[in-house]
Amino acid sequence: MTKLLHTYPDYQKNKIVSKGNGSTLYFNDGSELFDMTGGWTSHCIVGWSNPRVIEVMKDQIDRICHIDYKVYVDQNREKLSELLLSQAEHDLDRVYFSGNSGGEACEAAMKLSYQAHYDSGKQTKNWFISREQSYHGSSTDALSVGDRPNLKFLKPLYPNKRVHVPEQNPYREMYDDESEEQYARRSADELEKAILEIGSDNVAAFIAETIQGGLVGFVPPAKNYWKYVREICDRHDVHLILDEVICGTGTSGKIYCCDWDQISPDFLFLGKTLASGYCPISIVLTHSGIEDVIRAGQGRIQHSTTHQGHSLGTAAALAVQTIIHESGFLDDVNAKSAWFRQFIERELSSEPFFRNIRGRGLRLAVEYDCPKQNEFGIAVSHNLLQRHNIIVDGKWHRFAFSPMLTITEAELFRALTAFVDSFKTIAKNWD
Ligand SMILES: Cc1ncc(COP(=O)(O)O)c(C=O)c1O
Repeated sequence: MTKLLHTYPDYQKNKIVSKGNGSTLYFNDGSELFDMTGGWTSHCIVGWSNPRVIEVMKDQIDRICHIDYKVYVDQNREKLSELLLSQAEHDLDRVYFSGNSGGEACEAAMKLSYQAHYDSGKQTKNWFISREQSYHGSSTDALSVGDRPNLKFLKPLYPNKRVHVPEQNPYREMYDDESEEQYARRSADELEKAILEIGSDNVAAFIAETIQGGLVGFVPPAKNYWKYVREICDRHDVHLILDEVICGTGTSGKIYCCDWDQISPDFLFLGKTLASGYCPISIVLTHSGIEDVIRAGQGRIQHSTTHQGHSLGTAAALAVQTIIHESGFLDDVNAKSAWFRQFIERELSSEPFFRNIRGRGLRLAVEYDCPKQNEFGIAVSHNLLQRHNIIVDGKWHRFAFSPMLTITEAELFRALTAFVDSFKTIAKNWD
């Protein structure tokens, strides 16, 4: 009888993972799974058991596992900060090691935003605006700016002073008689309307994922949306906080997803992909203007956790990000992305249920429409698992793909051929 309290109490407990290698998981019963979900939560980007990451981690363990962030210098933190800013096209120039999870990074960014306003004498700026259909983590504060249907029952626990504006999703929210440009403007204007309703003197920040993430399936914004949002934030002295927990660190084909949109936020936070799951670690990027305000104000950041900037996590992140930042790595991600899209378009565009493929880099989603929509996604995923030992995240109205960035072309071909086969097989007999 297990003593483990599992998230799903009825979960199958006899299938034990023995090891992972590249994109493949191996089980104790001899079976294996090919993963197109980056470890289910899209965290793993350089494959399991990556020898380069393991070697660096072993060396770090031999020396020291963790030294405190506030008191000691860990050279790897400096090196990782340098590296993370080395290919950035935006203006952020400071890296704050916030903790372990994306949710913690979200909270740290919110607190930093409020502290910067507070230390500038604008204490009333303490409301946060975010978007529907978003997810920023499962701590109560991160939840309060998210919008996940199954977690709505927790709402009585949320702090107040939170407002949601509609999602930014050209596929669902754009009117038939509207151009993309008009939609970008209208959608950004919804933010400005919310700021004016609350009063700009009361709003600290707008928080959003650079591309709508896993919930709706990797939807890039309408062109110029972020440019308009940036202008609105500047007009009302509202910080722009971007969540790149799922779409940052090269997964979009650029190191930072917002670099596709050519804007610079005030804060940008990263988590799960930073160390590719080899250790939990998260960070917040910001700019020296925020540091100056805090230096002149309270003189310290009023957020800290025991394991922030964890030394082993930092070493792992440095090893992972060294791989991601290597010359040619992102060209390879973009080439695989282009091939992925062409393959799906070619194979599925004449299928009646197929709607589109969209996303950036290797954060891609296939949208479909049919009767019993949710069941269709689950049935296709199940078929793929049973017949091909491949795992994809299919439900609601989309299949979300977040393969390891190190996936080979041959593996991608095999996985997508199998996916197309399962999609067509299930669609053929769907009523
Ligand atoms: C976009 C986004 N932000 C934040 C988070 C929260 O990260 P964590 O689960 O590490 O707290 C997630 C997790 O799925 C995410 O997808």
